Formats: sequence, C-alpha cells, structure tokens
Amino acid sequence: MRRVPRARETVGEAILRCTEALEAAKLTYGHGTDNARDEAAEIVFFSAGLAHSLGARAYDRALAPAARRRIASLLRRRIELRAPLAYLTHRAFFAGIELYVDRRVLVPRSPIAELAMARFAPWISPRRVRRILDLGTGSGAIALACARAFPRATVDAVDISAGALAVCRRNVRRLRLGARVEVLRSDHFSALRGRRYDIIVSNPPYVGRAEMRRLPAEYRHEPKLGLEAGADGLDSVRQILAGARAHLAAHGLLVVEVGNSERALLRAYPRTRFVWPEFSIGGGGVFLLREQDLES
Ligand SMILES: C[S@@+](CC[C@H](N)C(=O)[O-])C[C@H]1O[C@@H](n2cnc3c(N)ncnc32)[C@H](O)[C@@H]1O
Repeated sequence: MRRVPRARETVGEAILRCTEALEAAKLTYGHGTDNARDEAAEIVFFSAGLAHSLGARAYDRALAPAARRRIASLLRRRIELRAPLAYLTHRAFFAGIELYVDRRVLVPRSPIAELAMARFAPWISPRRVRRILDLGTGSGAIALACARAFPRATVDAVDISAGALAVCRRNVRRLRLGARVEVLRSDHFSALRGRRYDIIVSNPPYVGRAEMRRLPAEYRHEPKLGLEAGADGLDSVRQILAGARAHLAAHGLLVVEVGNSERALLRAYPRTRFVWPEFSIGGGGVFLLREQDLES
C-alpha cells in the first residue's frame, strides 16, 4: 500500500515514503546510489538542506513545508524523466568530495575513487608521485580526488569535450585547486606532447555498440561521448595503450577503467600483463599496468 504524506512528516518518514514510491516506479540506479533507499535519502537530505554526515540523527526532525514541496518535485521528476538524480540536484559525491554536475558530464561513479583515496598504494610509492594525468576527466572527479590525495603533485585534467571542461573548471574553482590542477582540451594525448606523468589515470568511454542499445533510460541522459567507444568498446582504450609509453615516466603507473569491456580487452591484448585490483566498495573492471610492462 502506498503511503500518503502526513500533515506533519519527519525526515525518516519521508525517506520511507520516497523509498516506496521509487521502488514502485521500477527505476534503475547506478549514478551514485545503487538502491531506492539511498536514492530516497539523497532526495530528502538535499531538499531539506541537511548534511549526509548527520545520518540517522536527522530522522526525527520535522520537515518544513518548503522542504516537503522540494521533495515532492524531485521525486516526481526522478520518476517521470527517469533521469539520474544528480542531474536534478546538480550535485554528486566522489571520494568524499562534493562536485557540481550537469548533463555535459557523466555522473561520477568510478571505483577508481577507492584507488585514489589509497594513493594507488601498493602499486606505486606515493612519495615519488609529482605529475598526474586524468584523461577524459569529465566533471574533474578523478583529477580532483588525485589532487586531494597527493597534496604535492600537479594534475592535468584533460577532455575532448568543451562542455565537460567548463564543468571541470567550475569544480576546480569550487575546491580552490586551480594552482595544482590544469584543465586542458585534448583528443587523448594530442595536446600533451612532451608531458610525462608518474600516474596516468583514465575512466574513458568503454561501452560497446550492442551494450549501448541495451542501456536503461537513466544512462541515455548522459553524454554519448562519455560512454560509446566503437563496436567492442575499446576505441578509446586502444588509443590510451598506444600513447601511454610516450607519456609515462620511468616506473610510472597506468590506471584505466574498462568495465564490462574487460573480456574484449583480454582477447585483444592476450600477452599484456594487466593487474585487476579488487575493490572493497564494489565495482571492478579497472586495470593497472606498470610502465615497464607496457608493450612497445
Ligand atoms: C566515462 S566518462 C568519464 C568522466 C570522468 N572521468 C568520470 O569518471 O566521471 C569519459 C570522458 O572521456 C571524454 N572523452 C571521450 N573521448 C575523448 C577523447 N578522444 N579525448 C579525451 N577525452 C575524451 C568524454 O568527454 C568524457 O568526459
């Protein structure tokens, strides 16, 4: 039975009611949350201007009428548009950082967040990391997580999309990291001649043509440029593997997310010694490759 909003509703009650409405609408999650309850909590906390760090301590608070109107509007639009919630709130959380997002960028969700927060240890010695490249930076999520994790490093945040770079610049300004994060337009490595990095990290487009056709409605709101990568999903990854040798410093580390295209990659590069780290927060499909293991 669907709950109707009561005259006086608390945060906890609203989360329960929104959860039931989201579950009944049979939506797809995967843009920052992976279930209806967490999505409902973001709707309610965002609408009420509450920090997530309050957690259950906020549940008994009564919601003001304006917050209740915002909840109703967000819930309705999430269900009717089947758009990722982050495009409606214009915020996303990544590696503990709050980012501005809109439809010019993919909603950040890469498991690379976990590696960045661990400073890519034990695969590289964090002390010697001075230069980092985030290729296909989108909102700047990975670049900014790296800048936070390595306070003595500089980071190049690179994308081919002018729209994405505008969003990235906005996030760099918000986090006051402009002194260490350079935002550059480049088609893969084309504008990076002569630059070498201790870490090259990338969450490039990697969705194959057949998988693109099967994507749930929520993913169709995202820029195609951020997802689609040819017949087997490897168009961008091939360019990264081909260009990495000229841009990795000696003993540098290449970190690339390939998601479901992992099998296609292993077929295409049977001799390459990819390392596939496990993640405690879930997700996978990210390979690591040391400079000395790159094929020439
Ligand atoms: C999967 S999205 C990842 C965005 C961001 N790194 C993240 O994890 O949320 C891939 C990004 O690569 C960018 N991209 C696509 N083709 C590119 C190219 N040829 N050169 C540079 N960036 C490219 C897209 O514009 C998009 O922002």
